[in-house]
Amino acid sequence: MKLLSLASAIVALTASGLMADTVAPSAVKFEDGTVMASLTGVAGDPVAGRDVFKGRKLGNCLACHMNAEMPEESFHGEVGPPMDGAGSRWSEAELRAIVSNSKMVFEDTIMPAFYRDSGFSRSAKKFDGKSILTAQQVEDVVAYLMTLKDE
Ligand code: HEC
Repeated sequence: MKLLSLASAIVALTASGLMADTVAPSAVKFEDGTVMASLTGVAGDPVAGRDVFKGRKLGNCLACHMNAEMPEESFHGEVGPPMDGAGSRWSEAELRAIVSNSKMVFEDTIMPAFYRDSGFSRSAKKFDGKSILTAQQVEDVVAYLMTLKDE
């Protein structure tokens, strides 16, 4: 009995991304425009990632990127390239690098670094010491982008 509840506690922790093996923003390993290892060790959920993509208080990616896969959304920005086919253009490791810290891939880009201890990219005090997205939200949005394949 005891053992069983311990096991389910571990499952719950894993699901919430609070396991010790979650990579801290400052410890993310960038190599030639890629981040090979998962930030959490938990597979990304593309459905949750879709919400991160369009959520104004989450990634708000739609503010800058058109995305034909979500025609029901009224506003699509044109600051960055359209997301159509992103999962064919980039590998998962490249997308993880772009979303975590796009500056490591595109020099001087205005795209925010979504997984970096901030105070750098966002001035508001409440963001100090926090990344914009959690490690699992990065994995989720990467899993979603991987579903955007060219026809
Ligand atoms: C403030 C605007 C802005 C926001 C918000 C933004 N991006 Fe970007 N993004 C850009 C720009 C600009 C580029 C082009 C890179 C450059 O600057 O050269 C880019 C590039 C990219 C690329 C590579 C382009 C390609 O050819 O596919 C991907 C993938 C991407 N962004 C994903 C995202 C995701 C996912 C989010 C949300 C978590 C996001 N972006 C939020 C501006 C933005």
